[in-house]
Amino acid sequence: MNGARQPIGVFDSGIGGLTVVKALIEELPVESIVYFGDTARVPYGTKSKHTIVKFSLENVEFLLRFGVKCIVIACNTSSSWALPTLRKYFKVPIIGVIRPGALAAVRETRNKRIGVIGTNATIQSRAYETAIQRIDPAVKVFSGSCPLFVPLVEEGWLNGSISRQVAQRYLEPLKRQRIDTLILGCTHYPLLAETIQSVLGKDTVLIDSAKQTVAEVRGVLMGADTLRDQRVRPRYRFFVTDEPAHFSRISHRFLGRVIGSVERASLHG
Ligand code: DGL
Repeated sequence: MNGARQPIGVFDSGIGGLTVVKALIEELPVESIVYFGDTARVPYGTKSKHTIVKFSLENVEFLLRFGVKCIVIACNTSSSWALPTLRKYFKVPIIGVIRPGALAAVRETRNKRIGVIGTNATIQSRAYETAIQRIDPAVKVFSGSCPLFVPLVEEGWLNGSISRQVAQRYLEPLKRQRIDTLILGCTHYPLLAETIQSVLGKDTVLIDSAKQTVAEVRGVLMGADTLRDQRVRPRYRFFVTDEPAHFSRISHRFLGRVIGSVERASLHG
């Protein structure tokens, strides 16, 4: 059932996980993908651990209906709070974005001072901090939540004075800590990379967890011997729990292309 021909399942709290889908399509172009965006219940970043874990369990159950061979949690907030529980409940390989991002940051830092930005829930979980210090206990981690970044990106305000002012306000404290590497610990933040880079200066390395996560997906599929290698046309399906039209309208911003067909998902049956 869960062989090489089966799709990869990806879930996110909403639309931001398309940044991970974009990286998957670029790196693993023959793999089919089923994407689930919980647009009716977004944002997760302001919610409690209990709620985030409950929603994440339901999201995995939805994806399992498609016989997926592995599941990628594109959402940093879900990865931070729900990954251990999901791995306990389900046999399918589940990959989160935290460890890949942490590994890449530890590899990049020269002064062992890493910054992490994310939603309130991600920062409260200290998941990145724990992952980084498990890899290298000598690294100092400085974190900050940037809750206004998500609505800015969804509005398409990626550059310009308002985004810059918000970024300055959030990032100045991290800059003062002399970080040389910053983890963009939220699906939406890679779209603000230019603005973030201009505030921090060109010497700070920005880590996009999405790209690192795809490398881990490849490793997991190779290990399970389920990497698809034949030249076939992949199939992509996109499901959301709220109005598909809005998702479709702004999808190109995250994916680099417009998604023609978005299906309405029903979590219960
Ligand atoms: N997808 C979420 C994340 O990466 C951001 C949006 C939300 O708060 O749900 O943390």
